[in-house]
Amino acid sequence: MIISMIAAMGSNRVIGKDNDIPWHLPDDFRFFKDTTRHHHVIMGRKNWESLPPKFQPLPDRPNFVITRQENYSAEGATIFKSLEDALTKASEMGEKEAFIIGGGEIYRMGLTLAEKIYLTEINGAFQGQTTFPDFDKEQWQEISREHHGTDDRHAYSFDFVVYKKK
Ligand SMILES: NC(=O)c1ccc[n+]([C@@H]2O[C@H](COP(=O)([O-])OP(=O)(O)OC[C@H]3O[C@@H](n4cnc5c(N)ncnc54)[C@H](OP(=O)(O)O)[C@@H]3O)[C@@H](O)[C@H]2O)c1
Repeated sequence: MIISMIAAMGSNRVIGKDNDIPWHLPDDFRFFKDTTRHHHVIMGRKNWESLPPKFQPLPDRPNFVITRQENYSAEGATIFKSLEDALTKASEMGEKEAFIIGGGEIYRMGLTLAEKIYLTEINGAFQGQTTFPDFDKEQWQEISREHHGTDDRHAYSFDFVVYKKK
């Protein structure tokens, strides 16, 4: 099973502010939806709680949530005590590519396990407490990059980039 991470970050590595995402880029959201649909998605408890109610769970894919809390319940999702447990279960279910979908704490743990990163690099710096980990570009090869310009629905330009672990 391929372990992938998928994220969108600003030029200063910010991915979140006050348990929300500090931009609105519908084509990036579509990319996330299309890339992860029908795959297991694994997220931290805070990311789960940041999802709007209509996207709890994210539809058409098994939602796995990581928490240290005993008896935590998240309707429509399966709870795990560790990222490793969640990945093992996804693999046992026959998953071919599992997606670690954040937030910051979970990406930090996932960096050593993942072999692919789908990273939307936004051309703008944002305020926020949550960042994507600074990964060593010596260990990761950029295998594709697609540019998306600004338009009336997108206030920032961005690149869809895929990195593969060397
Ligand atoms: N731009 C993007 O692509 C993107 C994507 C996803 C999320 N985000 C943003 O990221 C922010 C949330 O990220 P975050 O770093 O604050 O939180 P998070 O990574 O979503 O969740 C953190 C929680 O995960 C659980 N956890 C962490 N390590 C664990 C471990 N080793 N074992 C078991 N459970 C563990 C803990 O839950 P308990 O406290 O319940 O134990 C912890 O509080 C939000 O602002 C969200 O909007 C951005």
